[in-house]
Amino acid sequence: MTIQILTLTIDNKQVSGLASETVLQVACENDIAIPTLCYLEGLSSHGSCRLCMVEIKGSAKLHPACVTLIQEGMEVTTQSERLLHYRRSIIQLLFSERNHVCAVCVSNGHCELQDLARDLGVNHIDFPYLYPALSVDASHSRFVLDHNRCVLCTRCVRVCSEIEGAHTWDVKNRGIRSLIVADFDTPWGTSETCTGCGKCVHVCPTGALSEKGKSVAEMLKKRPFLPYLMANRAQEHR
Ligand code: FES
Repeated sequence: MTIQILTLTIDNKQVSGLASETVLQVACENDIAIPTLCYLEGLSSHGSCRLCMVEIKGSAKLHPACVTLIQEGMEVTTQSERLLHYRRSIIQLLFSERNHVCAVCVSNGHCELQDLARDLGVNHIDFPYLYPALSVDASHSRFVLDHNRCVLCTRCVRVCSEIEGAHTWDVKNRGIRSLIVADFDTPWGTSETCTGCGKCVHVCPTGALSEKGKSVAEMLKKRPFLPYLMANRAQEHR
């Protein structure tokens, strides 16, 4: 098998990569940052969030870097006013579509959606919030699924299928009504295929999948230290 090396430019920097590599992979190898959300190294690329869109000279449309293979002589631009505009719009649409209330989210401060919003300078939402009435599935003994925080990146679906081999997760419905479901839309806790490995929780970019006991309301305060300290101090002063 012959290995084909291609040469291209990304942001005016001459780079090279294997013909089987995507624009995103070659950009990463050359320390060129492109925002991503649905992409996760180690999983198949899905190309659904469109945050990684780049401009390619000679093409009027934008191309998702995570699923676009490099070509010889390609001239790629990863940062421009136009790209920033679309990336900000995507983040705003994601925030407006569900109920991302960061202040009370389990992932506040550890959320990729929040990080992207900050990095792209999204400080307000131009679109009307939809405030959908979505459920929280807390039927699993160790984990919680909160549809309100889900951005439908399908990382959970892919890691469960491609890495764990269980294929517990899937997506039901279409478009704005899409929801992540376990097995054939059964409560997660009753799933017969879930192995409880927690891989889906760890690849989730937001607070949609989390471990129980980590939410703000479940924050257990450990206060027995206070009477213990007081008793010891009282003894010292005797
Ligand atoms: Fe490429 Fe989501 S990261 S489309």
